[in-house]
Amino acid sequence: MAPEKRVSERTCRLWSAIWNWWCDQRRETSTFSAFRRLLGIAWEFGRESLPDRRRQRYGDVDYDWEHRVNTTGAALNWRTRLLGLLHSQYQPVPPEQFREMISALAGHIGESADLRQFTFIDIGSGKGRALLLALEWGFRRMVGVELLPELDRIARDNIRAFQEPGVNAEIELVCMDARRFTFPTEPSVVFLFNPLPKPHLRVLLANLERSLRQNHRALYLVYANPVFERAFAAFQMLRKVSGTNQYSLFATSAGR
Ligand SMILES: C[S@@+](CC[C@H](N)C(=O)[O-])C[C@H]1O[C@@H](n2cnc3c(N)ncnc32)[C@H](O)[C@@H]1O
Repeated sequence: MAPEKRVSERTCRLWSAIWNWWCDQRRETSTFSAFRRLLGIAWEFGRESLPDRRRQRYGDVDYDWEHRVNTTGAALNWRTRLLGLLHSQYQPVPPEQFREMISALAGHIGESADLRQFTFIDIGSGKGRALLLALEWGFRRMVGVELLPELDRIARDNIRAFQEPGVNAEIELVCMDARRFTFPTEPSVVFLFNPLPKPHLRVLLANLERSLRQNHRALYLVYANPVFERAFAAFQMLRKVSGTNQYSLFATSAGR
């Protein structure tokens, strides 16, 4: 494809993301609040571009050093950063927090099942940090769903670069809006780390509920940083089974 055509396609995508965001906000709030939020995003985007904030995004670079990958929130182009502010900003899950949550899940499942029977699905997989960490549990299959093409591309590079002996897992990456994702019908662990604003989370949960009604199965959902946990109240197929202030664990009745 000619470079000019690629650029204009990307510009179109950016404008259509801004327009969709605007329509969503108007539906949820008033024109005035939507406009105020838009100014807030413009302000935040400006601040994010300052050198000290750019340096901060390298954050927990230790994981990357250890595994020769690129999963911090740094080194993203301005389009991805702006789109991140409109949807949900990329931030990789801290490894200790992830390990604590999945250990708690394994403890909860106990001897009735084994994580190796489950497919791990990361909604909003970003640069793939959670998927790489999930390799430590030997899930039978892993799927990452990411909206932004730049993050999806880096995740693909990371998976290629991440070579640990004995790792024999299947990781599939899908670059799409998670609201249109069709959940696989096998026993699964769905992982959410701040991927979606509340209205989009409701759409995702409605799709998941529909899928569970059609194909009843064991499914666990780990919701890290559960700021919109109240949205789950409207869905009956998933009930909260444990959690802390850092995460909530939900299960279907076919789980325990
Ligand atoms: C906080 S990051 C989590 C990254 C990764 N799961 C991890 O734990 O390391 C949230 C991610 O959700 C993605 N996202 C936001 N809206 C989305 C959507 N509608 N569909 C798919 N991904 C989305 C963002 O681009 C971002 O990469």
